[in-house]
Amino acid sequence: MIRFEHVSFGYPHGETTIEDLSFHIKKGDFIALIGANGAGKSTVSRLCNGLLRPLSGHIYLDGQDTLTTPTSLLARKVGFLFQNPDRQICENTVEAEIAFSMKVQGWPDDEIRKRVATALETFDLKGDWFPFNRSRGERQRIALAGVLACEPQLLILDEPTTGLDYLECIHIMDHIRMLNEEKNITVLMVSHDMELVQDYAKRVLVLRDGKLLGDGPVKEIMKQEALLRQARVLPAQIPSLALAFGDRFAEVFTIREMHEAILSEKKGDPGRKL
Ligand SMILES: Nc1ncnc2c1ncn2[C@@H]1O[C@H](COP(=O)(O)OP(=O)(O)O)[C@@H](O)[C@H]1O
Ligand SMILES: [Mg+2]
Repeated sequence: MIRFEHVSFGYPHGETTIEDLSFHIKKGDFIALIGANGAGKSTVSRLCNGLLRPLSGHIYLDGQDTLTTPTSLLARKVGFLFQNPDRQICENTVEAEIAFSMKVQGWPDDEIRKRVATALETFDLKGDWFPFNRSRGERQRIALAGVLACEPQLLILDEPTTGLDYLECIHIMDHIRMLNEEKNITVLMVSHDMELVQDYAKRVLVLRDGKLLGDGPVKEIMKQEALLRQARVLPAQIPSLALAFGDRFAEVFTIREMHEAILSEKKGDPGRKL
């Protein structure tokens, strides 16, 4: 779906932000891009959709080089949810906001109407609301509804749950997981919340100072405490507790598995299967 080949990038008058970065994201994957503030996560996500272009190296989106492909074409494939929904929302009604990107992309009017109606229902929104008066969670849902209405192949989420309460977070993330599993939409999620990463991502890319420090299945990365420390992110609690308990808990990753493992330890059943 997207391939970075020896990509370097720096903002004008700044230092090199991304240095010789190479990775490949397959169609249908659910990737978390993690790292401390300033590691370059947002920059990588903006490079993915052509908002920024590499200074050296190449990025291929669905085989097309972002250096030579017009942004308008890239925008049809990539949906981008900004960290702050207020940077995304630009219309005065929710209905117009959801329709906005589809209009820009020239979708037929009746198709836009149908999709707006579906989006309003899916995200529990009202078409005549004034977006800027709504709560943070609602504004995030409005922005996401607009992005998803265009059916992007790659969905990029920059800290998607910032400012959301627990239920709003689950509601949005479960919907994104459903799209990933049922519609095979590729997801790249920027986050420094390891609990969220553990619950939703399949694979993790670890970034530090614009360089790739680690890349692997979520279960493997979560167990590498030294790597997470180097990347300056706080490990998720259950994998970290499992590590502290030693080898017999090596396969424990979720609360349920931890619960079962502790129960069978108490029963003194060393041959337990988790
Ligand atoms: N628009 C910009 N202009 C100049 N420097 C920037 C800009 N955006 C980010 N940077 C710098 O690039 C580096 C990486 O930033 P960013 O990609 O936002 O990191 P992250 O999302 O991981 O916090 C930081 O050192 C930051 O100061
Ligand atoms: Mg950022």
